[in-house]
Amino acid sequence: MVQFNIWLLFLCLSIVTLATTLHANLLESEEYWEKHVVEFDEYWKGRARIAEQDNKAAYSSDPYAVSGNLTSSVSELLVGKGERRNLMGRNKGPCMATNPIDRCWRCDPNWANNRQKLADCVQGFGRNTRGGKGGPFYIVTDPSDNDMVTPKPGTLRHAVTRNGPLWIIFAHNMMIYLKQELIMSSNKTIDGRGADVHIANGAGITIQYIKNVIIHGVKIYNIQVHGGGLIRDSEDHYGFRTQSDGDGISIFGASNVWIDHVSMKNCYDGLIDAIMGSTAITISNSHFTDHNEVMLFGASDGYSGDKIMQITVAFNHFGKRLVQRMPRCRFGFIHVVNNDYTHWEMYAIGGSQNPTIISEGNRFIGPNNINAKQITKREYVTESVWKNWQWRSINDEVMNGAYFVQSGPELKNRPFSRMDMIKAKPGTYVGRLTRYAGKLACRIGTPC
Ligand SMILES: *[C@@H]1O[C@H](CO)[C@@H](O)[C@H](O)[C@H]1NC(C)=O
Ligand SMILES: *[C@@H]1O[C@H](CO)[C@@H](O)[C@H](O)[C@H]1NC(C)=O
Repeated sequence: MVQFNIWLLFLCLSIVTLATTLHANLLESEEYWEKHVVEFDEYWKGRARIAEQDNKAAYSSDPYAVSGNLTSSVSELLVGKGERRNLMGRNKGPCMATNPIDRCWRCDPNWANNRQKLADCVQGFGRNTRGGKGGPFYIVTDPSDNDMVTPKPGTLRHAVTRNGPLWIIFAHNMMIYLKQELIMSSNKTIDGRGADVHIANGAGITIQYIKNVIIHGVKIYNIQVHGGGLIRDSEDHYGFRTQSDGDGISIFGASNVWIDHVSMKNCYDGLIDAIMGSTAITISNSHFTDHNEVMLFGASDGYSGDKIMQITVAFNHFGKRLVQRMPRCRFGFIHVVNNDYTHWEMYAIGGSQNPTIISEGNRFIGPNNINAKQITKREYVTESVWKNWQWRSINDEVMNGAYFVQSGPELKNRPFSRMDMIKAKPGTYVGRLTRYAGKLACRIGTPC
């Protein structure tokens, strides 16, 4: 009997420690949804209705064609037309851009006078994102964030809550500690090139029921849950917000979002979460480290509105001390192309509720743990169900025992014609394609 009690005590203790160390993503709990759905006031409900239309419009009825386009431009770049300049190393040749998104702007020594050119460079599902292109520049001069309702001119919060398109840049290096979530409005670019901009140790960025946002060239880390309160979300409105989730970037019912060359680590909840019917998103050239649940695409098994979710994850480096969810998907169509997965502790790509996952030309280096070699993870489902989910691995390179469990039909209905070469061994190019992932140290007057 004594033995039994000790065993029971041990069991309870281990359940408690497990539960606290492996806390589930906040967004996946029932309480979260009950609380948040009830708390939307008329204003946010109105914005939700408009965003729903915009998100539907941003959805592509032929996702295979879009993903095929990106792959063929990668293969053309790698294989070239007899020229192989882009395969050169860091020190050889003037142009250091190694993938088609970067090639579009990085070799221009005059990039600082051509900043809005960046908006023409996005590929994949977020390809129609223009951010603040065509709008004036807004120069952030003040890193402070003291007034949530009447933000001071010159601060990032003042910039992102203005109406109309704005291309937001930074006067100098700065550390921005957000006191509450930074609620962005539509048609904005946050462009950290030329300055060392850290958004850290405070609340994160919220992209909710809006469209057309570019976030480029900043570092985002140590993001925490913050208490909420009255927060401005546009020039004409502020309102009460509940506690923020502690995501680095939270994309909520939004479309046309491009996140590029961002370095992120160690946030309380997800590094990037995209939920509630968000779509037309590209996450590229970014570097992620030190995090458990990296990316969540779709938070609720009950929310089939995420069927319109279409996301491209390209040329990123999933690096040290990452655990799982790179990404974890529900319902949508996710194209994971030419990323370098060098570390994971549990699994790399997972999901539930029949998401389509096309994994193409990635490099997966398995962890040494013999029980964590599988790249993929299907949750809450038996094989008789998931065997029909389309999860395909095409030309991925697997190393150190990593393996991708495929399911569903092979990919056939899309233009493969220009991709002959990439079929050879594209995963082997990933080191080169992602060499410059993360925030770049761009200096004015020289190529980045
Ligand atoms: C694919 O790329 C071509 C050439 O750049 C473009 O004309 C076409 O619209 C693209 N297709 C899609 C679905 O984006
Ligand atoms: C964003 O920009 C587009 C194109 O210029 C415009 O049609 C739209 O009304 C803008 N949206 C907002 C919310 O300002």
